[in-house]
Amino acid sequence: MARPDLPYIVEPMHVEDIPEVVEIERLAFPTPWPARAYRYEITQNQRAHYFVARRQLPEEEGVERVERESSLLRRIHTWAQSGKADHRPMVGYCGFWIAAQEAHVSTIAVDPKYRGEGIGQLLLITAIEKALELNATLVSLEVRVSNSVAQNLYRKYGFKAAGRRPRYYSDNREDALIMTADHITSAAYQRMFHRRRRQLLKRLERYVSVPRVE
Ligand SMILES: CC(C)(COP(=O)(O)OP(=O)(O)OC[C@H]1O[C@@H](n2cnc3c(N)ncnc32)[C@H](O)[C@@H]1OP(=O)(O)O)[C@@H](O)C(=O)NCCC(=O)NCCS
Repeated sequence: MARPDLPYIVEPMHVEDIPEVVEIERLAFPTPWPARAYRYEITQNQRAHYFVARRQLPEEEGVERVERESSLLRRIHTWAQSGKADHRPMVGYCGFWIAAQEAHVSTIAVDPKYRGEGIGQLLLITAIEKALELNATLVSLEVRVSNSVAQNLYRKYGFKAAGRRPRYYSDNREDALIMTADHITSAAYQRMFHRRRRQLLKRLERYVSVPRVE
């Protein structure tokens, strides 16, 4: 999703993005994928679609417009003063594989410093939109049974528990919950999806549309 009026932008993942992806990966997962796995996914795997979210910082003038008390603003100031004028920090990434009409979310992660701001939703929305573009009718994924935060995110976008894979995760032999969003092309799903999307965009726009405080 590329909108100049939002604080974050989601773009396709490129090889140059991998070092930053791997940094977040190490913070997000107990058994992180190595850089070569991401390199394979984006250079070899024809069925793979990966995206990164970056902070799309407003111009200096724009900074004045952001709510002064927000932690987001403090981070923008820190960044603006750091002198990295041409670098937009990576805040998260996601990916999925497409096979026939099923899109399978292979990964999604947000930098811990930026969680709870809607970036996970922005990434999931982008993945679902791309899956629809590729004619998928169903989105599936696996999630640790203990990962209630991620499960809440998925439920918010219409995913339901569809089964379990016993001892799926090698580090602690934890079960995976299989979750699916069926019929993503149905009118009912589309209504819900667009409602959620609008709500999120409104929430994100808040950060960049507060009038300047003189
Ligand atoms: C799961 C993850 C990607 C969510 O990213 P995020 O940017 O924090 O998520 P969002 O801010 O978009 O929140 C989306 C929804 O997730 C749920 N959620 C987010 N943080 C939560 C928390 N601390 N507790 C409970 N639910 C939470 C809520 O339903 C939230 O919707 P709401 O804001 O309307 O309440 C992030 O926590 C993460 O990277 N976790 C580690 C990696 C991981 O577990 N990935 C999933 C593998 S299956």
